[in-house]
Amino acid sequence: MPVVTRQIGPCFAAEVEGIDMTRPLSPDEVKAIHAGMDRYAVLVFHGQRIDDDQQLAFTKSLGEIELAVGTSLRAPDEYRLPTTFADVSNLDQHHKVFARDDRRRLFAIGNRLWHSDSSFKVVPAKYSLLHARAIPSKGGNTEFAYMPAAYDTLEAETKAEVEDLICEHSQIFSRQQLGFTDFTDEERARFKPVLQRLVRVHPGTGRKSLYLSSHAGTIVGWPVPEARFFLRDLVEHATQPEFVYSHKWRVGDLVMWDNRQTMHRARPFPAHEPRDMRRTTLKGDGPTVAQVAA
Ligand code: OGA
Ligand code: MN
Repeated sequence: MPVVTRQIGPCFAAEVEGIDMTRPLSPDEVKAIHAGMDRYAVLVFHGQRIDDDQQLAFTKSLGEIELAVGTSLRAPDEYRLPTTFADVSNLDQHHKVFARDDRRRLFAIGNRLWHSDSSFKVVPAKYSLLHARAIPSKGGNTEFAYMPAAYDTLEAETKAEVEDLICEHSQIFSRQQLGFTDFTDEERARFKPVLQRLVRVHPGTGRKSLYLSSHAGTIVGWPVPEARFFLRDLVEHATQPEFVYSHKWRVGDLVMWDNRQTMHRARPFPAHEPRDMRRTTLKGDGPTVAQVAA
């Protein structure tokens, strides 16, 4: 079937028709999806009634899977899904909604801050593929911000200033912003900061973008409060309405985004209602600090 894209966001994001994830992709379909991702950065596929195996098969046909091991506060025996999935739900291993004050839920509220997936890993994620299995009665949208546009609209002086900056990213920094600070020594060691460039060049489009994320907590060589303010100011710039697409979920939607050119955040929803979202993730090519400045 021909793959048809229709833009739905302000300067990015498109709906895709002609893909059935219950069936293997043809080489032309794989090509069309990658081309669509380069161009739109967020692709929405409606009506995909797929199970875990089908989501995995679809994801693997686009690249290599990034495992979700040790990135949440779930203990090894508390995983609801295999480690090929990031469990973005509010459900425990028995499929029960977390209590309001459950530490695992409070940690996951960090997803409501603007971020790029796995920016706290040395090799951060390429694409994320989030599938909606159950959604709340209201709220729970996912919002996306288009970072090439955020970069392009910086003043020349700011572009020069950010060009070679390196940030430290950790899930500890994002949670700190929410007042979540009671990490164990084991968690502090596991969430040790990693370095990321602030300006990235996209290998598919050649465009520069701001690589921002709420996990960024310092800029190498800068005093911390000045770095935090500077990053906050950039996030404010990058998330103006003209750069943002808000996705209202339907069960069966699969939304795929390119973490190298977008940030995203979850919006709140009623705490007692199940929201079953399952994410598969594609590995990035390498550390951003290894990227040669263009
Ligand atoms: C994610 C994420 C947002 C949401 O899956 O990485 O941040 O709306 N999800 O659940
Ligand atoms: Mn995320």
